[in-house]
Amino acid sequence: MNPRPHKLIPPTFSPTPSRSPENAVGVLVVSDLSSNLDVIGVAIEPEGTVPAALGVDFATLARTGFTGDAGQTLLLPQQNGPSYLAVGVGAADGRTAASLRDVVAAFARAAAKFSRIGIDLHGTFPLAQETIGQVIAEGAILARYRYTPLKADPKNVPLVSLDILAAAGDAQAVTEGVRRGEILARAANLARDLANTPPGHLTATDLGDVAIEVGAAHGLAVEVFDKQQLIELGCGGLLGVNAGSVEEPRMIQLRYTPTDAEGAPVEPTAHLALVGKGIMYDSGGISLKPSDPMHLAMKMDMAGAAAVLAAMTALSDLSCPTAVTAFLMCTDNMPSGSATVLGDVLTLRGGTTVEVKNTDAEGRLVLSDALVLASEEQPDAIVDIATLTGAAMMALGTKTAAVLGNDQGVIDQAIASSKATDESIWQLPLERSYRKQLDSDVADISNMGGRFAGATIAALFLADFVGEIPWAHLDIAGTMQVDADESWRSKGATGFGTRLLIDLAENFQK
Ligand code: BES
Ligand code: ZN
Ligand code: MN
Repeated sequence: MNPRPHKLIPPTFSPTPSRSPENAVGVLVVSDLSSNLDVIGVAIEPEGTVPAALGVDFATLARTGFTGDAGQTLLLPQQNGPSYLAVGVGAADGRTAASLRDVVAAFARAAAKFSRIGIDLHGTFPLAQETIGQVIAEGAILARYRYTPLKADPKNVPLVSLDILAAAGDAQAVTEGVRRGEILARAANLARDLANTPPGHLTATDLGDVAIEVGAAHGLAVEVFDKQQLIELGCGGLLGVNAGSVEEPRMIQLRYTPTDAEGAPVEPTAHLALVGKGIMYDSGGISLKPSDPMHLAMKMDMAGAAAVLAAMTALSDLSCPTAVTAFLMCTDNMPSGSATVLGDVLTLRGGTTVEVKNTDAEGRLVLSDALVLASEEQPDAIVDIATLTGAAMMALGTKTAAVLGNDQGVIDQAIASSKATDESIWQLPLERSYRKQLDSDVADISNMGGRFAGATIAALFLADFVGEIPWAHLDIAGTMQVDADESWRSKGATGFGTRLLIDLAENFQK
């Protein structure tokens, strides 16, 4: 039987083997760059000496306007052998892990016509060798990502190999970093693939299937809860948002427990719960969104769930010492004769009643069921990630996400991870005196506050459901996608938060 009789389109999402050949890059650490490469990127400092192999001096490069600023590139074709690509690395005081990631991203894009590339930094970045390997791999793999499975002729040249020149004594450390960078970048690209996939090709049910498949491949215990089970669990938020849809909702739970080299469980250093908003498409529901080009992006309203699922796939490969339980709350938000309407009251997991004053404020409804479920496990902390409010995007733009929470320790750990991964977050206040805006005449709480401080109001709603458990909330509405390639971000879904959550889980201290 066709399991999706109402769908004309088949599910196209299949995580294995990777659908995007761009994600199958082979990264090697080498002691000399082979003459079989298409192009070799060579780091050039501002006013610096240019390696003799390039056949030109800095003054000659400068005649084209090349200054050596970070990320500037200039292609130098050669009569024989690989072309050279001069890559500016900027002034010495700006050479950080984040700037190297972006320098390599700029190089990989300038080399977009080539599939076999090499890079020679010749000591320009004063970073640990492992960090160098990691961020080079991340920069190249993230920058060459393209979402192509629905194009007959994608036209882009996939990156097949990246050779990194390193001194023999550094090779092992660089290689270890490369392995880490590959795991991080591939996880982020999985989140991108999920968020870029059209809503009709990836329903909540499909995402449950994907989670089972990737979970099995990455040592996770996965449980997918269907509509009947969600009724039994009392998840009235997720069910209420789903009420207008012909698609069933899914709550996807994934568990990671650390193991030793033989696969035997070891005592975790801490227990972290992650919650992701998985609105497969957000039409607004009965509070239908007005026509606006931005709504094309509402297929990415599951970017939080995608980041959590993708992050989970990296934990066992990285031997993360923290146990992590994840909850993905998945449904679309559709208007119809059966949809939740304004004034309806939903009963969430745990019994709290919510008056729905706007069906477009659906994220907080689905998240709150999960925050209650997560709290029941008494984890050391809960972190949720959600494309929650236009207000967060208005306040911080597309580069920086909002972080709010009830515990400065967890917030500070999230900020530290965001610095390590260059996924910038900025704390907004959880101003408790605004909570009264969410009071309802008929229920325990309403899902709409006043006109101002929308990101804070949404977080105050969530705060009611985590009790005393240390909690941080990431609002990634602005950072979930970009309109054009920039730095490590490739056009389309950014996978924002995936690497941050991995880093947080690895380094988490209760
Ligand atoms: N998914 C949207 C938020 C969003 C907006 C994400 C732009 C990405 C880009 C969310 O469900 C929403 O509709 N929020 C409303 C809340 C309001 C009705 C209280 C918003 O921000 O306008
Ligand atoms: Zn939404
Ligand atoms: Mn909405």
